[in-house]
Amino acid sequence: MNTVIDNIDYGPLAQLIGKWIGTKGLDRAPDINAEPDEHTYTDELTFTIAGAAENAEEQELVAVKYHHVVRKNKNGLIFHDQIGHWLYEPSTGLIMHSLTIPRGVCVLAGGNISEKENEMTFSVKAEAGSETFGIIQSPFMLEKAKTTAFQMQMTLTENALSYKQVTSLFIYGKEFKHVDQSVLQRVRYDAD
Ligand code: HEM
Repeated sequence: MNTVIDNIDYGPLAQLIGKWIGTKGLDRAPDINAEPDEHTYTDELTFTIAGAAENAEEQELVAVKYHHVVRKNKNGLIFHDQIGHWLYEPSTGLIMHSLTIPRGVCVLAGGNISEKENEMTFSVKAEAGSETFGIIQSPFMLEKAKTTAFQMQMTLTENALSYKQVTSLFIYGKEFKHVDQSVLQRVRYDAD
């Protein structure tokens, strides 16, 4: 696969670029009752190029940006919307994932890529309190629905993308593992 676009080598991020649709999403969300809330969903992920960045004349990064739209099967309505970037440092193999969700929560997670046969797995994590790969949240969320950790594995082949993300919460007086997973198929090689 050609990983160079507009003279920038996006390396492993190049394979993300395009549009992906999933029909097998499963969400495990917190509920004030003892039982978690489970929803099946469809999701749409679009990735576009975001260029290269140089930090302190030393660190070279390339980035793609994405938009993730998730609709509940029960009623077709959007119940999760997420934007962010995936970044790659070619000299070290470092992968970073920055994301924002419209509840007043932002995450910067870090990790790496492992490869086997024709698939790549991006693994990243973040922890509240870390000054590097951490979580920033609104005063309300910090007090009532705190995100304490985030981890994600995303596996890519040429035409399939699957992910599992575990968001650790402290909500309703106890710890809760908020889990989201889906398998998406590529529908386009660009996102326009
Ligand atoms: C496919 C991805 C996701 C879906 C479908 C999803 C869906 C949901 C749903 C349905 C709830 C329950 C809302 C309610 O009680 O009415 C929830 C709660 C929550 N989610 Fe997610 N979520 C996703 C990803 C994330 C991520 C990536 C984060 C943060 C890093 C996050 C943080 C939270 C928090 C903090 C709450 C607690 C709010 C509350 O229930 O009061 N979620 N999510």
